[in-house]
Amino acid sequence: MNVLAHIKELRKEIDRYNHAYYVENNPVISDFEFDMKLKQLEEMEKAYPQYFDKNSPTQRVGSDLTKNFKQVEHRYPMLSLANTYSEGEVMEFYNRVKKSLNTNFEIVCELKFDGASISLIYENGELVTAVTRGNGTVGDDVTANIRAIKSIPITLNGNYPSRFEIRGEILMPFAVFEGLNEEKAKKGEPLFANPRNATSGTLKLQNPSEVARRKLDAYLYYILGDNLPHNTHYDNIQQAKQWGFKISDAVCCCKNPDEIFEYIHYWDIERHHLPVATDGIVLKVNDLIQQKNLGLTAKSPRWAIAYKYQAERGLTRLNSVSYQVGRTGAVTPIANLEPVLLSGTTVKRASLHNADIIDSLDLHIGDMVYVEKGGEIIPKITGVEVSSRVTTMSKVIFPDKCPECESFLVRNEDEAAYYCPNDDNCPPQIKGKIAHFVSRKAMNITGLGDETISLLYEKGLIGNVADIYTLKETDLSTLERLGEKSAKNIISAIETSKQVPYENVLFALGIRYVGETVAKRLAKTFRSIESLAKASFEELVQVDEIGEMIAKSVVSYFSKEEHKTLINRLQEAGLQLSSEAKEAELKSSKLEGKTIVISGVFYKHSRDEYKEIIEQNGGKNSGAISAKTSFVLAGDNMGPSKKDKADKLGIPSVSEDDFLAMLK
Ligand code: IVH
Repeated sequence: MNVLAHIKELRKEIDRYNHAYYVENNPVISDFEFDMKLKQLEEMEKAYPQYFDKNSPTQRVGSDLTKNFKQVEHRYPMLSLANTYSEGEVMEFYNRVKKSLNTNFEIVCELKFDGASISLIYENGELVTAVTRGNGTVGDDVTANIRAIKSIPITLNGNYPSRFEIRGEILMPFAVFEGLNEEKAKKGEPLFANPRNATSGTLKLQNPSEVARRKLDAYLYYILGDNLPHNTHYDNIQQAKQWGFKISDAVCCCKNPDEIFEYIHYWDIERHHLPVATDGIVLKVNDLIQQKNLGLTAKSPRWAIAYKYQAERGLTRLNSVSYQVGRTGAVTPIANLEPVLLSGTTVKRASLHNADIIDSLDLHIGDMVYVEKGGEIIPKITGVEVSSRVTTMSKVIFPDKCPECESFLVRNEDEAAYYCPNDDNCPPQIKGKIAHFVSRKAMNITGLGDETISLLYEKGLIGNVADIYTLKETDLSTLERLGEKSAKNIISAIETSKQVPYENVLFALGIRYVGETVAKRLAKTFRSIESLAKASFEELVQVDEIGEMIAKSVVSYFSKEEHKTLINRLQEAGLQLSSEAKEAELKSSKLEGKTIVISGVFYKHSRDEYKEIIEQNGGKNSGAISAKTSFVLAGDNMGPSKKDKADKLGIPSVSEDDFLAMLK
């Protein structure tokens, strides 16, 4: 066999193994044998670079770096489905279809997967483009990332149409999601709220090899094209399975309402054993001509409906309540529960939010409580089964002192939370401030995760953010679970952080109410930390977007002696506490004096790039249309409320092309 034929055969063989493993969940060779095959192919491809093929299984781990996502218009808009939570409305849908068609019909029932929807275009059996839903009309081209998902075939088998589109859902299995969040928690990074958000976040990464590492999965459920092999939805997706797509085995063709409801009830229970999230059932008229006859409304097809299951609720015992003190000193009550399985994950803790909620639930230790999982990371308690309460149980009483430092808690007027006011000496507040300081959008000191910060704090090596700059390699390498290499890396990350721009340093300080945007605004107006520290309340509220609450907090921060000392120490360590006047960076002053609002979808630059362009040309960005707005930079599908407001105030719109021409 010649070399090329050998390479091709190996590629085919490995594609087959991938399909068996990722699509059929039925591996046919061991991981070791698989790795050996892949290695063999890699070596051959390296030796014969002339036979490179971007569709080879070796290319799946993703090597190309996408800088920005191109926006692509969908050939057929990605509509949503009409939703219902009621079986009565499912019956109404059935009757409506029956009346309209006035002939026999079948309904295909499928699981409604809860991930990120995707549109895949195949030409001549090859994946050419993968686009997210976006706004339904235009989405992001995430092809490079999608190629890193092993259950999506890059090349097809059998007899497929020369061009077609197939849509489906990208999903992060529960197990992968939990592992990813554990990793993030260790690094002190913010957690993903649920597998759906984690999936969308992953698809937006600029690094396909990280996408590959996160092991996403995909189910396909809808195929569109001019020459599909069959005239029913069911037959077409079964055919797509033969071409290599992952099609759920739960798809079922129902002939009458009884069969539909049997399906709905069966999967209400069974779906909890699936490795991925589902939130309902999708019902679709099977025959494509009947679908066409029923047609579409502006938002959704008349031939389909989604029945959504109620959020899953569990009943379990409240064992105790603990009180967590956050970075800002806010004290959050957490319910510790008897473990209960909910939507695929084990729940042991639930948020109780604040003292008012505890009171309104009249919570007692030992109560049987209802737990629900919404979109948040931590599930919440929604009710108490009072019938199971016995008189000996004690009422949950919110403490009056900080559980960490014993300071008396305070509650601001109009705020639900109690705060520990001891912000500079209460251990979780100190550790939280340090964790915020080193986080990615602040000083970006990688390697200093929550655990390391805790250890350093407990050993007395750091007590505030300035102490970070006195750390030595030996301080770190002697810590448990931290080797010499990690210690070296941390020290070098600390060194690099000295170059982080002033606006990030300002954000990193963790001044209450000074988030990323406010920090940017302050840094622009007060070019050095000395001038900001000297600014009066009146001067601060003069600044755009700085309200009284922020101004008060900034003044109070800089009035404290310990903060002045801290800033002096940061200055001595060499951090950037001022910024050069930005005027030098201006590309032109063509937009000087103009306040511009950006709205809609753009093709030539991203929104963030446009914001930058506006600033580089002397203009000002604003989020809301007002009488002060000079014009709206309007892309496609500008929001209707913005459009109305602009029309009412007579504010002109400038298209993307005209805007770019303006700056030429
Ligand atoms: S069919 C025109 N089938 O639900 C109908 N959608 O609100 C096209 N979804 O955006 C969609 N599972 O992301 C269809 N088995 C399934 C689905 C499904 C989940 C999602 C999809 C869509 C949304 C509709």
